[in-house]
Amino acid sequence: MSSVPRPFLKWAGGKAQLLSQFAPLYPGRVEKRRYIEPFLGSGAVFFQIWKLFRPSEVILADENEELINVYTAIRDDVEEVIRRLARHKASHSRDYYYRIRGRESRGLSRVARAARMIYLNKTCFNGLYRVNRQDRFNVPLGRYRKPPILDAENLRAVSRALQSADIRAAHFSETVAYARGGDFIYLDPPYHPRSRTSSFTSYTRASFRDSDQIELSEVYARLTRKGCLLMLSNSDTSFIRRLFRRHDIRKVQARRSINSRADRRGRISELVVLNYEPAGSTSHLPSSIGRSHGEGRLAVPPERVKDVRQDAGVSCGTGNRDRRGR
Ligand SMILES: C[S@@+](CC[C@H](N)C(=O)[O-])C[C@H]1O[C@@H](n2cnc3c(N)ncnc32)[C@H](O)[C@@H]1O
Repeated sequence: MSSVPRPFLKWAGGKAQLLSQFAPLYPGRVEKRRYIEPFLGSGAVFFQIWKLFRPSEVILADENEELINVYTAIRDDVEEVIRRLARHKASHSRDYYYRIRGRESRGLSRVARAARMIYLNKTCFNGLYRVNRQDRFNVPLGRYRKPPILDAENLRAVSRALQSADIRAAHFSETVAYARGGDFIYLDPPYHPRSRTSSFTSYTRASFRDSDQIELSEVYARLTRKGCLLMLSNSDTSFIRRLFRRHDIRKVQARRSINSRADRRGRISELVVLNYEPAGSTSHLPSSIGRSHGEGRLAVPPERVKDVRQDAGVSCGTGNRDRRGR
């Protein structure tokens, strides 16, 4: 009964490896705030926030409907998801994988769709989510000897954590329309590519373009004026630094994905953009995650960063206003 929920999907851009660096960057009083995550993916940050703070209200969203269906099915009918996943696990083979992959998800019940999605995610190549023009999942079988298809205890813990969550399939602009001053919002869009060929930016049929990154930066400025507390992650590119130059930009260190070229292995920096002064103290955190490995502040000198930690509901702009006054 007491197990702590963890991400149950493999997801490109998942933040599990960055959580120890994120923990000291959260704002104060998260337990009293509403928590909103418009780019949910595998929910690594939500599960950490849940474990540390149990925020009073939660809105979780992603544009990928197949993904959001998994979360709602687990919230509302976890035992049936587990039963169906156990059947997939018992039947797993190469032929079975391609048979299930070829099945149209639209004709299935909500729970059957969810179990299919988890099964394919756990057994496909690298946990990738990719669909063709007809919106059909087309990732080949991965090379695993014993893929961990079902962890029933964790799914039950996830279901308990989601009981009071408002879960939506939505474009980020719709999700943030619900934001009020004092809300804590974590934004993790698809990475801005470091090079033309480098990054995977498509989790749905539509890919995330530069124009979407610009729209998100405008949303960030608007929400800042509303008094929301914002944490955004993205790749460390000059384009992203320019978009968020009026905010507090910090670096975190991520592992590069495995690469056959030696010069592309090792660590790589990513950016976190804040519009508040983090609570900083890690005394509320378990010792295993209380230390920051970040490289410290960039771009915005400390004197430009105002402490915007205020009571929920009270406007708390950063002072780093958009110069066009929007
Ligand atoms: C980098 S991933 C988020 C990873 C997540 N933080 C985790 O730890 O797994 C980006 C997510 O944004 C979603 N997404 C892409 N375009 C979107 C949009 N326009 N609105 C909302 N979500 C979108 C994708 O489906 C994907 O799940």
